[in-house]
Amino acid sequence: MILASGSGSNAEAIIRSATTYRVSTVICDNPQALVLERVKKLNISAHVVEKNLDESKFEYNQRLVDSVKSYNPDWIVLAGFMKMLSKEFLQNFYDERIKQCRIINIHPSLLPWFPGKDAYEQAFEANVSEYGCTIHFVDEGMDTGKIIYQQRLQREAQDTFEIFKARGLELENKIYPLVLEKLIEAADAEDAKLDFAEVIK
Ligand code: GRF
Repeated sequence: MILASGSGSNAEAIIRSATTYRVSTVICDNPQALVLERVKKLNISAHVVEKNLDESKFEYNQRLVDSVKSYNPDWIVLAGFMKMLSKEFLQNFYDERIKQCRIINIHPSLLPWFPGKDAYEQAFEANVSEYGCTIHFVDEGMDTGKIIYQQRLQREAQDTFEIFKARGLELENKIYPLVLEKLIEAADAEDAKLDFAEVIK
């Protein structure tokens, strides 16, 4: 299952590349998000779970847990999902066997650099010579979970911000499905290795 809030390029890449896994549904917290249209065209069901104004974060997370659980997903893949998941949400998906929640995220920076929002903007403004993206397990912190895979890109001197970001997003779309496939295979193996960064190279 995928959770997304925005344009949905990563969700689309993951759905299009699905051969060894199956995307059951996409849950989105924003009824206007482009991801909903993309997913519909790919014949995958999408479901909006929007936070109501009179609802606390705790209540929203509870409602989200109920929706997610109703699909009984093996993995929850965050693809530009803009809400923080609560501790209570995460607890529902903790897997003692791999000592992680079965929830992963892609973040558009070489973590631990530039966590949080607008990571491409942050990296561009910081004039970094190298940037990239990180796929990591989700924990209670902001982009602090265990790193599964990182890939680097060089910033070119002539890069405008648009080019810099587009190149980053293109890399995200390429690696997220590949890493997901390998992660599922590694985590579900009988002798699941807990150091996924070692398995996924
Ligand atoms: C990506 O840059 C992702 O890393 C970040 O949000 C953006 C989502 O893009 N978390 P998209 O909706 O997948 O196109």
